[in-house]
Amino acid sequence: MSLSVTRIGKSFVAEVGGVDLSQPLDSETAEQIRQAWWDNSILVFRDQDITDEQHVAFSHNFGELQGHSVTAWLSRDHPEILVLSSKGRSGAMPLKNGGAYWHSDITYEAVPPMGSILHGITIPPEGGDTLYADMYAAYDALDDETKALIDGRMAIHNYQLRYIKMTEGGARPAPTAEQLAEWQDVRHPVVLKNPDSGRKALFVNEGFTVSIEGLGKEESDALLEKLFAHSEKPEFVYAHKWRPHDIVMWDNRCTMHSATDFDDNKYERTMQRTTIKGTALQQAAAA
Ligand code: OGA
Ligand code: MN
Repeated sequence: MSLSVTRIGKSFVAEVGGVDLSQPLDSETAEQIRQAWWDNSILVFRDQDITDEQHVAFSHNFGELQGHSVTAWLSRDHPEILVLSSKGRSGAMPLKNGGAYWHSDITYEAVPPMGSILHGITIPPEGGDTLYADMYAAYDALDDETKALIDGRMAIHNYQLRYIKMTEGGARPAPTAEQLAEWQDVRHPVVLKNPDSGRKALFVNEGFTVSIEGLGKEESDALLEKLFAHSEKPEFVYAHKWRPHDIVMWDNRCTMHSATDFDDNKYERTMQRTTIKGTALQQAAAA
């Protein structure tokens, strides 16, 4: 059976069929999936009831894997797997809606991940969708004045503020001294060039971007607020309604995502993620 790649919903999501992710991929299929990933940003695979080992093995087709600085969320058996489970799983601490705010993964590190691969295991019958935003389209749709203002600029990203906000809501355990020391400011281009597609993407997110360099606080806050509101507009967003054993993989350099709420008193939601290491981000050349 040969691979099929079919655009769904918006212009940046494709469903991939004709492949069994429990089996090792031949090099041609792996290359076709990589190409489809650069062409589409988000790939959806249905009905892939894979084991943790198979999830890790599949992920290695795209690069080296990384863990997470909150090690309590990692699977004890497979530390390459981040467990987002309202009940906890494989020794990992329960976590309800790990990413229930707009963000790209781990942009608070000096070299953010290239992408993530999420396996939906236990899916609530209502709620718990994942929203994805197309940050190429969001960049392209900006007016020329805004593009001129942000092209060539750097933004500061930091995890501390977000994490502390989550602990105040009771959704996270108190950070350790090591974590606080590790979560320092990092700088990333506001507009990056994705080396795998050559395209320009807006690269700021509500989760972790705290300011834009070279602007006063008021101007920076106002510009970030405007860029967040712009990129979260429905026209750039695809809502993924999970079925058990969906695999969704996103290019983290040109998309953002946010989990939607669900009733964790009534339902369990369990997802597992592998995270592909990135390479140093490239500033896009000014228009
Ligand atoms: C993630 C994440 C959202 C979700 O896996 O990185 O943010 O819907 N998950 O579980
Ligand atoms: Mn996430």
